[in-house]
Amino acid sequence: MSSLTFPILQVLADGNFHSGEDLAQQFKVTRATIWNAIRHAETLGIEIFSVRGRGYKLPQPIELLDKNEVLKAIGEQRAWFKLEVLDEVASTNTYLMQHKNAAHATCVAAHVQTNGKGRRGRSWVSHLGASLTFSLLWRFQCGATALSGLSLAVGVALIRALESLGVTNAQLKWPNDVLVDNKKLAGILIELQGDLEGPSAAVIGVGVNLNLPKNVLESIDQPAIDLASVKAVDQNILLGVLLKHLSDVLSGFEAHGFIGLRDEWLRYHAYKNKVVMMLMPDGRSVQGEVKDVADDGILLVETAFGMQRFSAGEISLRGVK
Ligand code: BTN
Repeated sequence: MSSLTFPILQVLADGNFHSGEDLAQQFKVTRATIWNAIRHAETLGIEIFSVRGRGYKLPQPIELLDKNEVLKAIGEQRAWFKLEVLDEVASTNTYLMQHKNAAHATCVAAHVQTNGKGRRGRSWVSHLGASLTFSLLWRFQCGATALSGLSLAVGVALIRALESLGVTNAQLKWPNDVLVDNKKLAGILIELQGDLEGPSAAVIGVGVNLNLPKNVLESIDQPAIDLASVKAVDQNILLGVLLKHLSDVLSGFEAHGFIGLRDEWLRYHAYKNKVVMMLMPDGRSVQGEVKDVADDGILLVETAFGMQRFSAGEISLRGVK
């Protein structure tokens, strides 16, 4: 890993050409060192144009996370958030799961994830300046058994944040995919630490598609959409506002459980009364009509075998007869 890669990317973020010579002078290194740093960026999947006589350039200007701007957007009332912005990490969730002593309300955001994780063992596609990827560590007095419904509660926080930023047509797909026009805008991956009886901690990972190139959006294994095609939102403000709403929802969840958020969740539900396939963790699937969500976040689906309760799995429209 080259420690110059991200400082150089900060310069290239304006979308203009910067010559190898100017960059070498600016960072007081040789042009070969600059070239190595650029090569490293390319290994991270970052496309950089290199034109003889003109220098290096990103395909388009990008905006990178700025810690101070995010803290400003969170607001002084919540100054107790601990925010780290990492240039490059395998996965912000894995990072926080490994830092077991991290303080309550630590948020780790990354410019690049090299091994982003999705639900059900999938990988999560993200690109520099084109995706928001972060994880929040939240500690609970209660044990992990009392956290059923947490993943749905987190979805409510995301919708509230998006609404406050003017995105009024976002919906939830159980348990917590955020959809716009039935396409996935954001995903949530929650991993738990601690005892069943308590105390416990949740690492809440959130990935939002911000401005992905068309070919990347189309390469995702399900219909996907990015925020730029819905509403122009600065990613620093987005992260700050998301954290603000997450802290409100998580505090409420700790006090009252999912029950206090259930009606709101149902208002955002994209699949209410729809006929779907339920994909189960063991690979089986069953068709049924989505009926309701219980007070603990369990999905109720009317199938040919009666009303079934799902605490895990996924809704799919593929294969519905
Ligand atoms: C899903 O819908 O499949 C969940 C996607 C979660 C992606 C985020 S990106 C930040 C955090 N780090 C990860 O490795 N995954 C989550």
